[in-house]
Amino acid sequence: MTVSIETLGEVALVTVDNPPVNALSQAVRAGLSEAVDTLDADPQIRAAVLICVGRTFMAGADVREFGKTPQPPALSDVVNRIEAATKPWIAAIHGTALGGGLEVALGCHYRVAVPSAKVGLPEVTLGIIPGAGGTVRLPRVADLEHAIEMITIGRPIGAETAHAYGILDAVVEGDLKEDTIAFARERLRDALPLPVSKRPVPQVSEEGFWEKHAARIAKHARGQASPLRALEAVRNAVELDAETALAKEREIFVALRDSDQSAALRHVFFAERAAAKLRELEGIVPREIKSAAVIGGGTMGAGIAAALLDADLPVVLVEQDEAGLERGLANVRQIYDSAVKRGRLSAEKREAKLSMLAPSLHYAALSDADLVIEAVFEDLDVKRSVFVALDSVVKPDAILATNTSYLDPNAIATPLSRAENFLGLHFFSPANIMKLLEIVKAEATSPEVLKTGFALAKRLGKTAVLAGICDGFIGNRIYKTYRRQAEQLLLDGCQPGDVDRAMRGFGLPMGPFEVQDLSGLDIAEFQRKAARARGETVLAPIADRLCGLKRYGQKTGGGWYDYEAGNRMPIPSETVAAIIAEETEQAGRTAKSLDDEIVQQRLVFPMINEAARILEEGIARRSLDIDLVEIHGYGFPRWRGGLLFYADQYGLEKILPALEAMAAEGTANAPCPFLKDASAKGGFSNLTTGD
Ligand code: 3HC
Ligand code: NAI
Repeated sequence: MTVSIETLGEVALVTVDNPPVNALSQAVRAGLSEAVDTLDADPQIRAAVLICVGRTFMAGADVREFGKTPQPPALSDVVNRIEAATKPWIAAIHGTALGGGLEVALGCHYRVAVPSAKVGLPEVTLGIIPGAGGTVRLPRVADLEHAIEMITIGRPIGAETAHAYGILDAVVEGDLKEDTIAFARERLRDALPLPVSKRPVPQVSEEGFWEKHAARIAKHARGQASPLRALEAVRNAVELDAETALAKEREIFVALRDSDQSAALRHVFFAERAAAKLRELEGIVPREIKSAAVIGGGTMGAGIAAALLDADLPVVLVEQDEAGLERGLANVRQIYDSAVKRGRLSAEKREAKLSMLAPSLHYAALSDADLVIEAVFEDLDVKRSVFVALDSVVKPDAILATNTSYLDPNAIATPLSRAENFLGLHFFSPANIMKLLEIVKAEATSPEVLKTGFALAKRLGKTAVLAGICDGFIGNRIYKTYRRQAEQLLLDGCQPGDVDRAMRGFGLPMGPFEVQDLSGLDIAEFQRKAARARGETVLAPIADRLCGLKRYGQKTGGGWYDYEAGNRMPIPSETVAAIIAEETEQAGRTAKSLDDEIVQQRLVFPMINEAARILEEGIARRSLDIDLVEIHGYGFPRWRGGLLFYADQYGLEKILPALEAMAAEGTANAPCPFLKDASAKGGFSNLTTGD
């Protein structure tokens, strides 16, 4: 039984059991509805405690039912039914009461939780809004500003905060079931409280209140519809009577549930959970990681060390000399100092984290490490010398990883006597923040070591994707195409600001030139040099000239844009405009005016083509892996579902001729056979995968 009733004197215990997360499937909804009827009809019962078994309270509507014909009863009706019960219902919350789960709890007359519980309305992150009264009931228990934040951003909050906001009536330290039953018994003396939807709602007197919130939300949403529609629903809750507001909430919910954006966001939700599930790794037990080490304390090494410390792993940091070690420690400290400055971390916690970091100049300090991650200069000889030294000191089963961006991990691994313990762990900068981790399988990497890579990613709170070996793995390889296309647009009449504006309009947080100025043009210059040394032709005439002028970006006061000292605001550069004009003439191209949509297509369609090649070569196994790489590593809009989900939604049958036209005018490569095949099969989502 998904919903069962146990009688404990005057209190009934209603238990939901629908593993793994007690999602509100049709059976649960029907069970809850029946339970209210049963208990209302039972004169012995005077209160009901609603509790869930397993790891969590109800985690929301069953997202797998979206996109199918809805089966009655609707969740909104179930919540209304609980609220209309003739005896008090008390929600006993552990784990996460999210979305429909919190809405059910808000339909109850009281809410009790354990301190570790979290509550939230994350619907906007799935492209929808709460559809069972959340926007109407939450502002009636929490204050309006908090309700707006929770509903439009969707981030869950902890039990103590929820108690302080007024969402929870009690937080109990002991046994949840026993304590909530005791809470229920104490309430038997009281009159039935007013249902939440009948309570007064805060009124707004501040002029421009809604416009102010709408402007702030629109800026963060970058084209995603649900946050603004969520605000609209809260405004309805404040300005209309509850019944009308509930009906309007449902209307918005249904419209969004059936939208492309919601389909895309649901795809990402399930892709994130599928990423680590590879058939070849099924049943394999990962090695235990209790301690780690990082070699190299530069930009990446320091960020990786912080990511490991944040997951409560003690870290040894090794540098090449005293000065390097001091710089490395200062780099890690700087990460935590800025977190303290922003109020994200207490000074006490910073010290606790730093006390788990052990600096060393000697590899002997690594004899106990379960995992060593190398993040030294991007130079094959330097990296090999590190692994030669590691090979003689680490434990036989220690996992050895390289964070190389472009070098061949197989070549780095040659000095190792136990190459099965070696893999690539490609973090993204800043490594303690960026969610993506490319797990690179080298020739000899054992399945157990790969599985440990995925387990580590989970522990670090990262989304891991398996990648094969090629220049740039998955993400940087696609990024190379993006960068090349962006520069080509300059030769056709765009200024950097035109291209950046178009891509921000597409939903990216920054355009390609703004990103390069932030991260430094030297990274790509290094990579072009390496490619040219291999005999490859790399066309980047404007970038080459900027690097020749040492215009490496913000750090040198200028790159694709100019910068005033101490200010990150990009200013269009006359120097760059003159170089663009010269190179355009040199290339025999004619500057024309390109609208934002054409700019977007000339950037994104060739990336899709490159992604198809990556799939064809088996560098990525599944299109969903590429979607996750683009979203978590490169800021591709989540609400577009990632690069290849977007391609499918847009229609490969339209992308193919557009690419062919670009190829004919020499502005992009022709579509590859794999892309044509995907189009013939109806899209990337229809391809059978080799995972
Ligand atoms: N519906 C269907 N399946 C769900 C689900 C949901 N709401 N939430 C989680 N699952 C599934 C996952 O897909 C996964 O399945 P798998 O094992 O086959 O891959 C399994 O449950 C376990 O999920 P996680 O791996 O995410 O488990 P964690 O313990 O790491 O996290 C969680 C648990 C915090 C509950 C997390 O799963 C989560 O955030 N879930 C989504 C919550 C949510 O967005 N709720 C709102 C839904 S929309 C709604 O309620 C609309 C309403 O207003 C009408
Ligand atoms: P960095 O130049 O900031 O840091 C490298 C550090 O390694 C320096 O502190 C240096 O003193 C130290 N080092 C050099 N040789 C050493 C040795 N033999 N033993 C111990 N320490 C040594 O470089 P960054 O940017 O941190 O890059 C490191 C690696 O990470 C490179 O392979 C790079 O390609 C890769 N990477 C860089 C990214 C980025 O955005 N910067 C992103 C992803 C990967």
